[in-house]
Amino acid sequence: MLKVEEQQPVEFSSALLDKFDEIVKRYPVGKQKSALLPILHLVQAEFGWTSAAAMDKVAEYLTIEPIEVYEVASFYSMYFLQPKGKYVLEVCRTGPCCLVGAEKIMGHIESKLGVKEGEVTEDGLFSWRGVECLAACGFAPVLQIGPEYTFYENLTEQSVDQLIDDLRKK
Ligand code: FES
Repeated sequence: MLKVEEQQPVEFSSALLDKFDEIVKRYPVGKQKSALLPILHLVQAEFGWTSAAAMDKVAEYLTIEPIEVYEVASFYSMYFLQPKGKYVLEVCRTGPCCLVGAEKIMGHIESKLGVKEGEVTEDGLFSWRGVECLAACGFAPVLQIGPEYTFYENLTEQSVDQLIDDLRKK
């Protein structure tokens, strides 16, 4: 189910609006909705996540209905509809990874970070969630971390501890 956290109304800076205008110009007049995906990426980069208030503002900018933005943003998993940590550990929870311990890894991450799936650690550094097959089944269990989508394979509780400690030191 679409879970959208409430947030105060947002304002887009003129610099951000200039970037939106640049993207919209790539498409024929009247087809400005085609700019929606890259604009949502810019919004998420600016605000850290894609709030309902920001989506409403995007709809207003593109002169489309808010539902047209929600349905796109909720379809693609790279858009986060609730606040997220700087690092999001996305653990594959599909069959092959589960057969070799993905659920145990997720349980370990939950207790190590002290937050449940979708929550953010107090320092704002981490959140985690289960995702579907990452197409690296031969190296299961696997997790990825955006925005570069770096893969970490053949996970163990020890390697996850090391990964989290390394990210904390960054
Ligand atoms: Fe986990 Fe495919 S099932 S990467």
